This record gives sequence, C-alpha cells and structure tokens, in this order.
Amino acid sequence: MICAPEFQLNAIPSITFYYADKTTTAKIMSAKLIDTFGREIDYARLSVTDRCDFRCVYCMAEDMTFLPKAEILSLEELLSIASALIDSGIKKIRLTGGEPLIRNNIMWLIEAISKLDGLEELTLTTNGSQLRKYATQLRRCGIKRINISIDSLQADKFKSITRTGQLQQVLDGIDAAIDAGFESIKLNSVILKNRNDDEVLSLVNFARQKNIDIAFIEEMPLGDIVEHNRLLSFCSSDELRSIINKEITLTPSHKKTNGPATYYSLANSNTHVGFISPHSHNFCAECNRIRVTIEGRLLLCLGNEHSVDLRSVLRDSEKSQAALTQTIKDSMKIKPERHYFDLEEKPQIVRFMNTTGG
Ligand code: GTP
Ligand code: 5AD
Ligand code: SF4
Repeated sequence: MICAPEFQLNAIPSITFYYADKTTTAKIMSAKLIDTFGREIDYARLSVTDRCDFRCVYCMAEDMTFLPKAEILSLEELLSIASALIDSGIKKIRLTGGEPLIRNNIMWLIEAISKLDGLEELTLTTNGSQLRKYATQLRRCGIKRINISIDSLQADKFKSITRTGQLQQVLDGIDAAIDAGFESIKLNSVILKNRNDDEVLSLVNFARQKNIDIAFIEEMPLGDIVEHNRLLSFCSSDELRSIINKEITLTPSHKKTNGPATYYSLANSNTHVGFISPHSHNFCAECNRIRVTIEGRLLLCLGNEHSVDLRSVLRDSEKSQAALTQTIKDSMKIKPERHYFDLEEKPQIVRFMNTTGG
C-alpha cells in the first residue's frame, strides 16, 4: 500500500490512501473536507470565464471591464484545480461563468474533467445561448444535469433584463437540451418586483409543459449596480409561492439537489418548483460548497470575501500539485459560518456575480 506523500494527516481531518497494482492506482478511501463548523464540503463551483454574451441587470453593470488574459486561468490550470479539488474531497463540480459555453475550447476542459477519477458528478449552469451548438456534446461527456437561466418568456422583457439576450436563442437552447436527453434540466429565474413577477405562473407552466424543473432565486446584493434598487425590487420566495398557489397547488417535496433550493411538487406532473431564498430562509447551516473564480481565487462563501489564492500556488514553479491540494484542505479553517446580506445597505461584496459564477 502506498500512502501518497501529499496526503499526510494534517490539521483538517482528511486522508487519502492509494493501492497500487500493476496497471492502475485506485483511490480506495476518499478524502473529506470538513470545515470548522462540522460541515462536509463536497461540492465546488468552478467558474471557467468571467465573460458573458448577456448583461443581466442583477448580475452585471451595463459597461463591464473583463479580466485581462494574464489574470485568468488557462484550461490546463483549470484542469489542475479540478483535479486538486477532487483529491482534497470534492465529489461534485459545477461549471459556471459568466457564460461557460463561450470559453474557447471549453469542450476540451469538460471532457478532461469528466474523466477525472473520483468525480461523482459534473454539472453546468448556463444562460442557454450556446446550447443549440453544445447540448449533444455535453450529454455525451457524461453531464447528466444542467441548469439554464431564463427570467422571462416575453421577447422584449427578456431583452430588457439580459440587455443583449435573444429569447428565441435560449428557447431553442432549452429544446436542444431536452432533445439531448439530460436526466434533469432545471430553469433558474431571478424574479424582480414590477419587472417579471407577473410571469411567475407562466414560467411554472412553461416548465411543466416542457417536463423540466424550475427554481426561483431571490436576488442577492453582489456588485454595486445602479440599474434598479434591489430593496424595491425584492420578491421573497413566500410571495412567489403564494402567487403560484393561487392557481397551482405546491406540495413540499423531499427532492434535494446539490444546491440550496427547497423543492415542491405539482399534481400530475414530474416538474419540481424550487425556491432559493438566501434572504428569507437562510440555508448556510447546510452549506456544502466552495467556489473557484476564473482568477483562481478559492472563495469560501458567496457572501463573504474569505478566500485563498490558488493561482499563485499553481504558477509557482517550486510548488507541486500536492501543494495545491493541501492549500484547498487548509482553506477549511477560514470558511465563514454564514453570509449577512442586507438589501438596505450598499453591497458589502463588490464583486459582480459573473466573477463568482453564482
Ligand atoms: P443544483 O441544486 O445541483 O441544481 O445546483 P445549484 O442550485 O447550486 O446551481 P445553480 O447554478 O442553479 O445555482 C442557483 C443559484 O443558487 C446560484 O446562482 C446562487 O444564486 C444560489 N446559490 C447557490 N449556492 C449558494 C450559496 O452558497 N449561498 C447563496 N446565498 N446562494 C447560493
Ligand atoms: N442574485 C441572485 N441570482 C443571481 N444570478 C446572477 N446574479 C444574481 C444575483 N445578484 C443567477 C443567475 C443564474 C445563476 C448562476 O445566478 O440568474 O441563474
Ligand atoms: Fe451572464 Fe448569467 Fe450574469 Fe446573465 S446572470 S449576465 S447570463 S453570467
């Protein structure tokens, strides 16, 4: 038995053993990432670009300056990070952006990550604009579940929320994903008062008609936007549920995915309706996730700045892949207990959602 030197016991209670035989090295016991609050972290969201073909009003400013090339991770560096995440105890990876599918050669990365030993699930969150082109290839790479953002089913409103998006392109993308046979497709909608709150029922009916799931997300104060007042546009999950319940009965469901949504089922339908309620129902006690930005910043919480610089470890020629894994393990010491979002204050988190990946 070989105990790989990079996985010596350390301050974080995790260890990985390898058995070596003639042809393969099999990982027989997985590492575990446990934070100081006893939460097991097994889900990582990896942002593969900060760029996007849309400019959603809750996510970005209209005029965005994106990161210079030297500061963003190459595809090979992203693969090294994915591999180190898995070696440190991560079992599920979700690729995010910006818009992940506009990154050049993204399929190379997806294919390579999907083959990494020890990864139990690879998923993707997309705005849907490129799915017509990529859905079949994604499914072939073993991606079983994808999440697609859509906030309106009216072309003019869709345009005003995304600023640059074309509704039809996303509708075509959703159909392409359905045709590609993903095991699960979930739509994500951010609902803003007096903007698209009148579309909540249509969005649920659309998901039901397509036989896919939908989750409604409360807008979070990430990045200083001027386009709307987040306090005035806030719609709580409870408000949305009561709008839906007037016409469609929602029954609490046991369904659980990797993220923070609480799901309900609909009578005579496979569709689940989820609610992601960072303001109204804090879910931090069950947090199972970390994030890596495209600059290689390992963020320990969406709503805090606690982070560790993985890029400097990656680009230090004296540091090995094992050092990268160890850095991820050590980061558990600074994972905060929870976020404190306050819509009445100026956002404390100045990074926009596109750099964090949702
Ligand atoms: P699944 O549950 O596996 O479908 O994944 P997910 O919900 O994590 O993925 P998705 O990309 O659809 O995320 C939906 C949104 O949930 C994110 O964009 C965030 O807005 C929100 N979210 C996810 N994780 C957190 C978190 O740790 N804290 C907060 N406040 N919001 C989160
Ligand atoms: N608040 C809540 N959700 C947001 N998203 C982007 N910005 C915000 C925000 N400020 C959502 C997108 C996408 C997911 C990754 O994050 O709509 O569905
Ligand atoms: Fe792009 Fe998604 Fe942000 Fe919209 S929410 S601008 S689609 S990254």
